[in-house]
Amino acid sequence: MAAAATATVALTASFDNSVGLWTLADGSVRWLEGHRAAVKAVAFLPPDGAVSAGDDFAVILWDLAAATPTHRLEGHQGSVADVAVSPDGTRIASAGWDGKIGLWRTDGTLERWLTGHDGAVNAVAFVDDATLASASADGSLRLWSVEEGAERGVLARHGFAINVLAVDRAAGWIAYGAVDGGTRVLALADGATLADLTAGRRPILALARSPDGADLAIGDGEGHVMVVETAGWTTVADSLVAARGPVWALSFSDGAHLVAGGIDDSAAIVARAGTQAPVLGTVQRPFLVPPAEMDNGERQFQRKCSVCHTLTGDGERRAGPTLAGIFGRRAGAVAGYRYSDMLAASDIVWTADSLGALFDLGPEHYVPGSNMPMQRITDAGDRHDLIEFLRQHTE
Ligand code: HEC
Repeated sequence: MAAAATATVALTASFDNSVGLWTLADGSVRWLEGHRAAVKAVAFLPPDGAVSAGDDFAVILWDLAAATPTHRLEGHQGSVADVAVSPDGTRIASAGWDGKIGLWRTDGTLERWLTGHDGAVNAVAFVDDATLASASADGSLRLWSVEEGAERGVLARHGFAINVLAVDRAAGWIAYGAVDGGTRVLALADGATLADLTAGRRPILALARSPDGADLAIGDGEGHVMVVETAGWTTVADSLVAARGPVWALSFSDGAHLVAGGIDDSAAIVARAGTQAPVLGTVQRPFLVPPAEMDNGERQFQRKCSVCHTLTGDGERRAGPTLAGIFGRRAGAVAGYRYSDMLAASDIVWTADSLGALFDLGPEHYVPGSNMPMQRITDAGDRHDLIEFLRQHTE
């Protein structure tokens, strides 16, 4: 869902509550464990650390050599969608869906909250050591004075939620990508539009500037990565890199390569020219049958559950517990899985009826306080087919 890369290593934030630390030379990965829900953002914290944030409302600082968390920064009251580190490496900013921006020191203490957005804050980026840019579901892009903790002003108002930001202070521009596909480059000085890169695909989920500033890469919900040369804002590459869904994350590892992260648990290295180079590392899904060849129950499972659950209990990593043996099982009973208190204490037994109710009402109503994301399957036929599929494949 987010990525950061240097010439030799890449960090990826993943749905399965972990941060991946990839060695680019051989594609090997170490998993950093500490978040209690999906990880949404990750950044390097020089000289040898990292910072990540996620749906557990927490920001975590990591010692990368030891692959262990060093500080847990708490105080956000919603998912934390983005983190940024100031160029001088002394401050961290966090973007909260509670509408707040956290400014933290690298020893884990809170410096202050920046408030003013009228909606979830989706992205933060340091323009320089003294200036932070933020983007929000309220459609605004704002600049803040870090020292004074004061808003400097609204640089842009886009009619739709802005998801992502990329900045080049030396060149004087800031780019944003929005939920409606809007992708614009603005002058930092006055907010004037320098380029409109909107390509009609939505939403825009990732933006990355190459270290030398020569390129801007744009990833969208339809699986494309577009590379634009910043000298004249011309598109030099545009390719479909994630056949199975959105490009959540992009980061240049060097001038020639990009790391792209998608929903298929892989981090793909994409050459700058846009051709897809060998995939860096993958965790294969148990089924890779095209959706058209699946029956409805399997399709329901693949689309709505498989990101977070396996059927076999073979130890593959997911955010949710395995569904192997789910029928007749008491809720919260998979050994070694860290359930929410609510589910662990529940006396639900999973049957066709209770599974049906779970998705008829939605987990937030059926098991209030559970960590399972909001999701309802309103069509009784779809629920039936899904449950039949589960019955056949979880024994
Ligand atoms: C984005 C991740 C995610 C998706 C998608 C998801 N789940 Fe879950 N699921 C979870 C998590 C996390 C838990 C554990 C919740 C807790 O501890 O409160 C869970 C728990 C469960 C449980 C209870 C398991 C037990 O051992 O008690 C069942 C049953 C379940 N999910 C079924 C499904 C089905 C069926 C789908 C698809 C329709 C689905 N889930 C989609 C994350 C997900």
